[in-house]
Parts: sequence; C-alpha cells; structure tokens
Amino acid sequence: MQLLVLIIGFGIAIAGYVHPEQIHLSWTEEINQMRATWVTYLNAPPHAAYRPILCGNVPSPSNFTYIGGDTKKFQEGPHFWQNQYIHTTVFENLLPECWYEYKVSNLGSWSKTYLFNGRTPDTSQTFRDVNNSFTLIVFGDWGTGPIGQYTKHLLGEETLTRDYLGILHMGDIAYDLDDEDGKVGDDYLNMIQPIAATYPYMTVPGNHEKADNFTQYINRFNMPNNGVNQGTSFFYSFNLGPAHFIMYNTNPYFKNTSQASADLQTQWLANDLAIANSQRSIRPWIIVLAHHPLYCSQDWFEEGSQTDCGEQPAVIKPILEDLWYNNSVDLALQAHLHNYERDAAIYKNQTIPSQYDGQNIHINPNAPIYIVSGNAGNNHGHNDPASTTPQPWARYLSNDYGYGRLTVYNQTHLFWEQFSAVALTEIDYVWIIKDQPRYKPVLS
Ligand SMILES: *[C@@H]1O[C@H](CO)[C@@H](O)[C@H](O)[C@H]1NC(C)=O
Ligand SMILES: *[C@@H]1O[C@H](CO)[C@@H](O)[C@H](O)[C@H]1NC(C)=O
Ligand SMILES: *[C@@H]1O[C@H](CO)[C@@H](O)[C@H](O)[C@H]1NC(C)=O
Ligand SMILES: *[C@@H]1O[C@H](CO)[C@@H](O)[C@H](O)[C@H]1NC(C)=O
Ligand SMILES: *[C@@H]1O[C@H](CO)[C@@H](O)[C@H](O)[C@H]1NC(C)=O
Ligand SMILES: *[C@@H]1O[C@H](CO)[C@@H](O)[C@H](O)[C@H]1NC(C)=O
Ligand SMILES: *[C@@H]1O[C@H](CO)[C@@H](O)[C@H](O)[C@H]1NC(C)=O
Ligand SMILES: [Fe+2]
Repeated sequence: MQLLVLIIGFGIAIAGYVHPEQIHLSWTEEINQMRATWVTYLNAPPHAAYRPILCGNVPSPSNFTYIGGDTKKFQEGPHFWQNQYIHTTVFENLLPECWYEYKVSNLGSWSKTYLFNGRTPDTSQTFRDVNNSFTLIVFGDWGTGPIGQYTKHLLGEETLTRDYLGILHMGDIAYDLDDEDGKVGDDYLNMIQPIAATYPYMTVPGNHEKADNFTQYINRFNMPNNGVNQGTSFFYSFNLGPAHFIMYNTNPYFKNTSQASADLQTQWLANDLAIANSQRSIRPWIIVLAHHPLYCSQDWFEEGSQTDCGEQPAVIKPILEDLWYNNSVDLALQAHLHNYERDAAIYKNQTIPSQYDGQNIHINPNAPIYIVSGNAGNNHGHNDPASTTPQPWARYLSNDYGYGRLTVYNQTHLFWEQFSAVALTEIDYVWIIKDQPRYKPVLS
C-alpha cells in the first residue's frame, strides 16, 4: 500500500515536471513555417502533432503529423539546480489559406490543442488583395503585476473573438525575466500562453532584458535568425503582404561596451532598408519597431533631466533618424514610456506637413509618424503621466493601460488604433493613406 502510494505520488510528481508549459509560437526565417517553444523541468524528449483543419472555408480532415524537436538546458537562476529544458519544434509546409491545430508533449504528457493561422511572413502574393488585410497586436512594457492584468483580460477576450495575425512586443518583458531566479519569467510566459500559443509572439529586447547580457531573453525567445543577428533574436525583419516590418534593439546604442554589436545592427538596418526600398513598388509600407523612442513628450525629471524623452533620444536620433527619413519609413512604433502618445510626421523635431493632415488622418506623409505604445502594464503600480505640455507634434496622449492594433488593409491604407484596457474601448486611431511608394522629402 505504502509502495503504491509512493509510486503514484512519484508518477504525479514526474508528470508535473514533464508537462509542457510556457508554450509560445513565433515566425521563423523561412516562409510557411511556425516555431513552437515550450518548457519542462525534467529532460524528456519533445514531440508535437499538427494538422490543417480548415483551408479557405473548406474543412480539411486529415491525420496529425507527428514530429520531434530540439531541447536545450537553460539554467534560469544562479544555483546549479535551477534548470529548465526549453524545447522547440518547427511546423513546416504550412499553407497560407489554412488554419492549423497543434499540441506538444513530453513523455506522453500532452498540452491542450491550440489553433494558429498558416499565413506566415513572405507570402506576399496571397496577401495583396483587399480581403487579405491583416491585424497585429502591438505593445511594450508588459509584466505580471496588478496593472498588467487589465491588458491580460482584454487581450485574452479579444484574441478569442477576433482574428489577429500576430503579436509584436517592443521590449520590457515580465519585469524581469530573471527576477526571483527566473520564476517571474516563467510566470509571465505562462500568463501569456493562451494568446502566445495561438499567435506568433514576436519580441525585441528592452532595457529590462539587459541582465546577464540578455541571457534570459536570448534563451526564452526564438526570433528569425538572419545570420547577422547570430541567433540572438535582437534584430530581424519580415514581410507581411504589402508591409516590411523591422524589429530592432535600441540597447546597444546606450552602452559603449557593446559598440561592436551596435555597429553590426546599424549596418544591417541600412542594408535591410535598401533591400526593402528596392521592393517598394510591391511592398510600399516600411514599419520599424523598437523599445526606446526617438520622439516622445515628457513632463517629469529624473536626476534633473528628462532622460526618456530627452537624453536617450539624443543618443539614438543621430544614428537612426536620417536612416528612417532617407529610406521613407512610414511608421515608427516605440515603447519604454509607460503611456501612449501618437505624434505627427516628424523630422529633426519639426512637424512635417503631409499632402493632407487631419486629427486622425495623414495622406501621403513626408516623414515617419512616431507612436509610443508602452502602456501594457509595467511593474511600477501605475503608468507614467501623459505630458500636460506635449511637444508641438504630439497629436494624442493617454496614460490608460492598454495596447495598439495595427491593420494593414492594402498597399494604400494603414490603420492604427489604441485600446484602453481600463475603459475597454478604443481611445485613439489614425489612418495613414498614401498612393506613392516613397515620400517626397520636403527638407534636405
Ligand atoms: C488517417 O489515418 C487512417 C489510419 O491510418 C487512414 O485510414 C486514413 O486514410 C487517414 N486519413 C487521412 C485523411 O489521411
Ligand atoms: C472580397 O470578398 C468579397 C466577399 O467575399 C468578394 O465579393 C470580393 O470579390 C472579394 N474581393 C477580392 C478582391 O477578392
Ligand atoms: C554579450 O553578447 C553579445 C552578443 O551575444 C556579445 O557580442 C558580447 O561579447 C557579449 N558581451 C559580454 C560582456 O559578454
Ligand atoms: C566608454 O565611455 C567612457 C566615457 O566616454 C570611456 O571613458 C570608456 O573608455 C569607454 N569604454 C569603452 C569600452 O569604449
Ligand atoms: C541621408 O541623406 C542625406 C542627404 O542626401 C545624406 O547627407 C546623409 O548622409 C544620409 N544619411 C543616411 C544615414 O542615410
Ligand atoms: C524640439 O522643439 C521644441 C519646441 O518646438 C523644443 O521645446 C524642444 O526643446 C526641441 N527639442 C529638441 C531635442 O531640440
Ligand atoms: C484599401 O483598404 C481601404 C480600407 O479598407 C479601402 O477603403 C480601399 O478601397 C482599399 N483599396 C484597394 C485598392 O482595395
Ligand atoms: Fe523600458
């Protein structure tokens, strides 16, 4: 009897250590692929099963395809026993018109079944008509604390009822991934599992991922490996329909110890933008995303200076602003400030007139439009106050918790919305409309 109890108890304990958790998806560097990443606390070989269930509007009955995966041991805390096993597998030959279901397992302990959309980056040809518009969730600065719960609840509900293509998290993840010997990172990835196991969860690091040279970030997230980033997930780009997205890392610009990687990234950005511009006639939109802003408004002072919207932008603007402007970047999405601010088209601290500007519309802008959406819910217990003396180019400010939604309708229409997770409603929107691939610079 005692032996039986012991064996059952041991069985339950093992099951707890091999049950997949922290399941999240990401796009890879290849087209028609999706990567799943998950964690167990014992080293047990990974398995996964996937199949299309709906293609177009036609049910697609088929058997599961079973595949294995790769495992790496990750020591998440300072003690040698604080290990977890991070498993990855890649679903291949996906069809953009299909929905897939999948599940993952270790030692026969299967996760629940999740659904994902087979549209992956670089399927531009199937994206280009009006019915293939797509929407991404965009935000920064999200943690597990009390104020992060508003966004968790709204996003949890939204993602059940709407059809997003992916989620872009512009840094400051979990507050912090390494806190409590990695437990905060584990809790965060479990918190987002319902949405991140369903939508590719694409990330770049913020300042809160700096610990131990970004070890936690590099190990827990798997972004496209473009060779130049050496698999760090620090910077990469992808094409979705008529838009080119560039995700990059602002951190190396702030510390001269990693100057080499800053230069590497800047060179890559210049090359990537040149390629994107050579394809502008089929893919007119270029959207850049990162953690620290080039432009934002700020009232408060830290040690006598306005660091976030003053000193820090002063460091990155000389490196990046001309790159964006010369390459006709349409939209720069940013975070770090724990609030929301939508600005007009800006170059060198001046509002640049578009062919037409309204409060919620810009037609044929002539410089990048800058937006800060860093209010998903940090760990400070409150958001940063929205500026009461905003800069002349600011168009809308709020310090509600929430997130943004970017819809790429087609080659001429982009639509940005900001949602309040407190008021449970849209609080701001802007149309960016253009009928010319590149803008006509008005300053030189
Ligand atoms: C699924 O597997 C069963 C048993 O192997 C086989 O009879 C059936 O044809 C398969 N169905 C499809 C759609 O491949
Ligand atoms: C978009 O979908 C509507 C309704 O299904 C259809 O009538 C229309 O022809 C489609 N447009 C394109 C460009 O495919
Ligand atoms: C930090 O990581 C980067 C990229 O992985 C590497 O180039 C650099 O040498 C590392 N720096 C330190 C101090 O370990
Ligand atoms: C970093 O910058 C400081 C101050 O400018 C300088 O003294 C130091 O030598 C620099 N370190 C490196 C590694 O470049
Ligand atoms: C941007 O264009 C200006 C004017 O042609 C040029 O002087 C400058 O070097 C360019 N800068 C970058 C980063 O491309
Ligand atoms: C930008 O312009 C505003 C006034 O239009 C000024 O208050 C602010 O200091 C300027 N910022 C920089 C960085 O030059
Ligand atoms: C692009 O999308 C907008 C917004 O839905 C729509 O009004 C417009 O007609 C579309 N343009 C084309 C060419 O389909
Ligand atoms: Fe930050």
